[in-house]
Amino acid sequence: MERPQPDSMPQDLSEALKEATKEVHVQAENAEFMKNFQKGQVTQKGFKLVMASLYRIYVALEEEIERNRDNPVYAPLYFPEELHRKAALERDMAFWYGARWQEAIPYTQATRRYVRRLQDVGRRQPELLVAHAYTRYLGDLSGGQVLKKIAQKALALPSSGEGVDFFTFPNIASPTKFKQLYRSRMNSLEMTPEVRQRVLEEAKTAFLLNIQLFEELQELLSQDAEDQSPSQAPGLRRRVGSGAQDSTPMETPRGKPQLSLLSQAPLLRWVLTLSFLVATVAVGLYVM
Ligand code: HEM
Repeated sequence: MERPQPDSMPQDLSEALKEATKEVHVQAENAEFMKNFQKGQVTQKGFKLVMASLYRIYVALEEEIERNRDNPVYAPLYFPEELHRKAALERDMAFWYGARWQEAIPYTQATRRYVRRLQDVGRRQPELLVAHAYTRYLGDLSGGQVLKKIAQKALALPSSGEGVDFFTFPNIASPTKFKQLYRSRMNSLEMTPEVRQRVLEEAKTAFLLNIQLFEELQELLSQDAEDQSPSQAPGLRRRVGSGAQDSTPMETPRGKPQLSLLSQAPLLRWVLTLSFLVATVAVGLYVM
């Protein structure tokens, strides 16, 4: 006799994925970086950072997808024309970082962790690739569309879409209809209950990798704000690397005011104040 499915475990993989990631989705929306973003509080620095991370992530994701394009555990979800983001992100990188963007873009720790996980899945456990594709592409086709408009407004970008190509899917006329098609393809994948369970776990992992990335980027931005505070000792500053060796410091945003000599040297300020007081008293005594 067939045992009924418990309420908490939907039959369709698409439903099960949505259910399994409900909690982590809320967590992702509530990450400080994302909360600020939704309020329109996104700086050029923050946006450039997250876009560079997304570039690295999609290069890895799509490389693994290409590796598995004919593998039945992934093939029904292969929609390069509609979904793939690498070319769009390359245009965004050139917009934000200039012609030599390849050498200029940062590569943060949390981004590396995400990339390593994608490579491990693509090469050793391709049956889990669906979890990563679901997390990113369906997310981009949902909340991503709102984020695009917020970024355009906050960063005063042209409505032509420059700088936010990543969020634009020219080969998808209706995101809602495409998501329906994608869900039905996910539901067509053959998998054992054991694999299915691992796919659900991997989707949660994918969300957590995104959350960790937001937390790291927020920390970098806060660190940067502290760097501008006069009380911050130079030795305490922490930077993220750019390029393979983690050695090049991140660029300073254009137009950021430099700290004045006075605000950097409290001792000098004291000496000047004291000299002024002594001079005032001396002039006072002289006049008397
Ligand atoms: C500001 C942050 C975010 C907002 C406002 C947001 C908003 C939304 C909305 C409105 C939907 C559509 C829900 C529906 O159609 O039922 C959605 C779906 C989705 N989001 Fe997000 N989201 C955010 C962040 C994220 C992040 C960081 C990820 C993962 C990296 C993500 C992954 C997804 C996925 C996979 C879906 C599809 C769920 C499904 O239909 O199975 N979202 N999001």
